[in-house]
Amino acid sequence: MKLKMELRTSVAAVIFLLQFMLGVSSIPAQTPAASPASPITAQVFRLDGGNSTYAFGVNERGELQALYWGGRLGAQDKIPAAHSSPEMASFDSPYTVTPQEYSAWGAGLFTEPALKVTFADGNRDLVLHFVSAKSTSTQSLEILLKDISCQIYVTLRYAIDAESGILARSAIIENKEKQPVVVEQAAAAQWTLPPARYSLTYLTGRWAGEWSLNQEPIIGAARVIESRRGTTGHQANPWLAISRDANQSAPGASSRPGAQEETGEVWFGALAWSGSWRFTVEHDQRDSVRVTGGFNPFDFGYKLKSGEKLETPIFYGGYSAHGLGGASRLLHHFELAHILPQAPDPKPRPVIYNSWEATEFNVDEPGQVALAEKAASIGVDRFVMDDGWFGQRKTDHAGLGDWYVNKEKFPNGLKPLIDKVHALGMDFGLWVEPEMINPDSDLYRKHPEWVLNFPGRPRSESRNQLVLNLARADVRDYLENVLDQLLTQNDIAFLKWDYNRNWSEPGWDQVPVDEQKRVYVEFIRNLYSILAELRQKHPKVEIESCSGGGGRVDLGILSYTDEVWPSDNTDPFDRLAMQDGFTYAYTPQIMMAWVTDSPHWLNGRATSLSYRMLSSMQGSLGIGANLNHWTAEDFATAKRLIAAYHAAQRTIVRGDLYRLLSPRDGSEFSSTESVSTDKKQAVVFAFSHSTQKGRGFPLLQWRGLDPKAEYQLTWIEGTARPETPASASGAWWMNHGIQLELKGDFQAAAFRLDRQR
Ligand code: DGJ
Repeated sequence: MKLKMELRTSVAAVIFLLQFMLGVSSIPAQTPAASPASPITAQVFRLDGGNSTYAFGVNERGELQALYWGGRLGAQDKIPAAHSSPEMASFDSPYTVTPQEYSAWGAGLFTEPALKVTFADGNRDLVLHFVSAKSTSTQSLEILLKDISCQIYVTLRYAIDAESGILARSAIIENKEKQPVVVEQAAAAQWTLPPARYSLTYLTGRWAGEWSLNQEPIIGAARVIESRRGTTGHQANPWLAISRDANQSAPGASSRPGAQEETGEVWFGALAWSGSWRFTVEHDQRDSVRVTGGFNPFDFGYKLKSGEKLETPIFYGGYSAHGLGGASRLLHHFELAHILPQAPDPKPRPVIYNSWEATEFNVDEPGQVALAEKAASIGVDRFVMDDGWFGQRKTDHAGLGDWYVNKEKFPNGLKPLIDKVHALGMDFGLWVEPEMINPDSDLYRKHPEWVLNFPGRPRSESRNQLVLNLARADVRDYLENVLDQLLTQNDIAFLKWDYNRNWSEPGWDQVPVDEQKRVYVEFIRNLYSILAELRQKHPKVEIESCSGGGGRVDLGILSYTDEVWPSDNTDPFDRLAMQDGFTYAYTPQIMMAWVTDSPHWLNGRATSLSYRMLSSMQGSLGIGANLNHWTAEDFATAKRLIAAYHAAQRTIVRGDLYRLLSPRDGSEFSSTESVSTDKKQAVVFAFSHSTQKGRGFPLLQWRGLDPKAEYQLTWIEGTARPETPASASGAWWMNHGIQLELKGDFQAAAFRLDRQR
């Protein structure tokens, strides 16, 4: 995998010191345990970017050792050389006590290994020593490691982003032995933080309940966050943050304060992989914290023949001195500038209409045209027809795999509908679920052998569907061809790419038994390659990653897709907390948020259209309601608010996000603020769940404005108290703040500030 983060930014802003001794290219195997005179002790590698510095070095034994990760150090500061730690006790070997930069399982390692290998002769001991270093650009380098006696080489890749200081790390494992080896565990990176008290923040969920933010002290033992599902998963997301506790002397876990929103040091990480993954967070015997992340070792076994390589995904890591809020702002800008397909300047998402909640599978030409006319009348930019248009698709029992138009529903194909949508001033999008197949489909009848399965074992269905084995070259080529034709034959601007189940029985019996577990890697690589080729052949087509909601959201898929569907749960109140959790890891630009019907199908909760609109306007806005049921007043409200959204969209989805009041933990109130990066505009949303005991909305003090500039207040929804000024300085809005009148159940307000001078 190529490092996605290309270093396009100016070098001048960053000081990069690569301190290694030229000419030292290898270390003799079995370097004596203590040889302080060895020249390699002087080797320290340092990467600087944004407000952070990352450093590691080679110790006396020839091991690569973590040295520093945190706030940016002075350009002239010399980072002390690496020194391996001595044995702590007879139970803790020097190898396990030394903070290895990328540890292999061997030599008495008791902490989580980055790499574990079984050799053809049964040997499972692997000890990596430094061989050489190569600067690949002014802000990136590669380190070559090798086992002390066997021909296993590991290349560690590092690239730091000049602006954010976010570091991209990955590893390439190469077998130069004469015999094959099996890689049983391969992390992209390990990260070490020095002894201190820390708290862990991570995201978990379930279908229709994604994006719960969890916070807990890091205490003894290990915390595993993972997916074993062959995909990213709803249950946990491959992102985490670790905060240094404000009170380092607090004795017990329960009294420790945890992560702060706008203050304190935070280290964060996100894995760019859409298959099974695992993070292990350890609090080791030295009170250090170590994070290991990469392929999930569960059921893993990647056979490497002689001369073959295995490349891991990229594990991104960053540092902020401004709490979780600062960390998420860094990530948002990094995703926009380096990850998304349209980086460094992705277009704000069109406001979409989607048919799913209105019609489900009952799509046909007249029905979709009627919805499209209504959607166009309120200012929608893109009309998306969801599930139901293809094969014999009437329910979820049939049709997946047959990506041709259903002639009963669309007798003249898709063209008349697409032409109508264009005539209404919108572009057209279509739902597909390419990796799936219903047993009741022409494709399955023709190719029952194309699904993931163990021969002679049952094929477990979920939603009446099976998973196509995309690891197979013929399946990969077939899908790419079918989708290419669909996009060539129809004027389609957008694909909503769905994925509605996880793997079971992940067999791949067309390859030898000892190669079948490669399915965990090859499937995802082929998925990425199809997406990349479609984008290359159809550069104007945009793609959404959906997996029954937020089951496939990660920095891997986001290199190929422009937006994601965070959840099938569109209840506007539930969405406040879900959107809050989502934005700790991902930019609001990609967070699609539809306004749907009330009462909501999931919770039965009734809310006003204005509340629903404002909840969705915090991200990339869409409408998913049945417009055939709307009143004239509904159309007027939606039209007014879509216009207001269009006017401020860039600030909302591309600005700096501040979470003024969190909706988590049953909070009565919540509020977010987005400030454009040039500080010319700010937009605030505020929500009240239900007024209790007459309590008023807490004072809102804005953040991130220019204190000296003058800002004018404009209401998007709601009204100001009479004493609120129409215009005041940034200092006034940030210090004096504003008091809202929000009384009752499910109330919402939104307003913006525009800089006058
Ligand atoms: C699951 C998605 O999350 C929904 O939005 C919708 O597209 C359905 N699949 C269609 O089957």
